[in-house]
Amino acid sequence: MATGDKKSPGSGKKESPLKGKKVLITAGPTREHLDPVRFISNPSSGKMGYALARACLSRGARVTLISGPVALTPPPGLRTVRVESALQMFKAARAAFSGCDVFIASAAVSDYRPARASKSKIKKDSPGGRFLRLTLNPDILQKLSRAKGGRLLVGFAAETGSVLENARGKLRNKKLDLMVANRVGRKGTGFGSDFNQVTLLWPSGKAETLKRMAKERVAGRVADEIEKLLK
Ligand code: C5P
Repeated sequence: MATGDKKSPGSGKKESPLKGKKVLITAGPTREHLDPVRFISNPSSGKMGYALARACLSRGARVTLISGPVALTPPPGLRTVRVESALQMFKAARAAFSGCDVFIASAAVSDYRPARASKSKIKKDSPGGRFLRLTLNPDILQKLSRAKGGRLLVGFAAETGSVLENARGKLRNKKLDLMVANRVGRKGTGFGSDFNQVTLLWPSGKAETLKRMAKERVAGRVADEIEKLLK
């Protein structure tokens, strides 16, 4: 047994470094309402984030899942906070961040929201109805990374081009310990799919491209890497 590895009594199995750790995960898309019946969003299904929650739970972590609107049922045994907009997700993540050991930002947060949301449905003939003024949402991961302390930060980058270059920039800007980058906009991987094809990136410059696999397995690999980083 390697130095530092612990065994849970009687099980013969090594105890995971994630055991008892507080893991905060954001998952799914956000919705940015223009009016009560319309919104800006993206096709994120939340499957990757929910798979990560299961992977961390199965290793004994205490998981808080902040979920945008998705059609998934959270696994039992975790705390789920359901949110709709990026601002709500930011508020919920900020409240849970100080108490967490690991923050995994897998949500596909909308970068923009309408500068003004109408309280009633915008009519076809309403003055200015064809124009949409947008304002920037807070970058949750970047803002929280300023108070990183000893926490481990894991980010995701969904890109349509220059995947690794863009992901490396975000890894640096958001002070991440691990970045999971994938190309989106292709059939059979990424948004909505049960499969993902990702490259793992570390601050040292190391990169590892994984083959296309089920999101459940990608989550297991990410959890394995988190365990190594926690050791
Ligand atoms: O959208 P972007 O590619 O910059 O996302 C990179 C990482 O930052 C992801 O982990 C995502 O969850 C996070 N993010 C965030 N808040 C935003 C935008 C992105 O937490 N407003």
